[in-house]
Amino acid sequence: MSVQIHTHADRGAAIKAVAQEIASLVRTKPNAVLGLATGATPIPLYQELVRMHREEGLSFAQVTSFNLDEYQGIPREHAESYWTFMHQIFFDHIDIDPSRINLPGSQVPVDDMTAHCATYEAKIVATGGIDYQILGIGRTGHIGFNEPGSPADCITREIHLDEITRQDAVPAFGGIDQVPTSAITMGCGTILAAKKIALMAFGEKKADIVRKALQEPITDLISASFLRNHPNAAFHLDPEAASVL
Ligand code: PGA
Repeated sequence: MSVQIHTHADRGAAIKAVAQEIASLVRTKPNAVLGLATGATPIPLYQELVRMHREEGLSFAQVTSFNLDEYQGIPREHAESYWTFMHQIFFDHIDIDPSRINLPGSQVPVDDMTAHCATYEAKIVATGGIDYQILGIGRTGHIGFNEPGSPADCITREIHLDEITRQDAVPAFGGIDQVPTSAITMGCGTILAAKKIALMAFGEKKADIVRKALQEPITDLISASFLRNHPNAAFHLDPEAASVL
């Protein structure tokens, strides 16, 4: 089965469609395992899930979450850490059990890195695997922080961030010198092991990389292109992101 491409009327409609899929999963399988993403793209998705929690009784009490990635070299409490992002945008507003929230550490000592990444990977497997993985796509074509050159079978590991990715983070960090140079990311293989995957991409600035990921040969230079080999992956686009397909 080839990757599904959904071009929605606008990004609000795309967000609603993905939120509905997550809600019906969590209602039928309360202990679902969610793979979560950060970045600007999924913010309205988390806002919609918070609304469903408040207004429609959607409970995350038994859900387990694994985030895709985390910067290295900043404290967990740093304003730009993904731990902070996820709590501010989502976890602090729902009933998820804090003990079921998983993110890679942000200040993992060099000597502990291999074990830390192996433990993260093993924990995902031990929970039964990710039921539903949310993804954005970076301008390098990365999913998670799987920068160009990441093979399809790579697993959770430390990665050096691409300069394009670091430049995109300058507004948030306030200067290129403040942007971390590395991160821990789930691998392409970790992501591709998810049972269902929803990649969201919105706006004209994503149009070219979306086209490359979907229409150029599958390559480790664009890790999102690997989703075309997944049995249950979908691209949820707005008309701008789909404009050159
Ligand atoms: P964005 O990031 O949602 O902020 O565009 C996407 C990504 O880098 O994966």
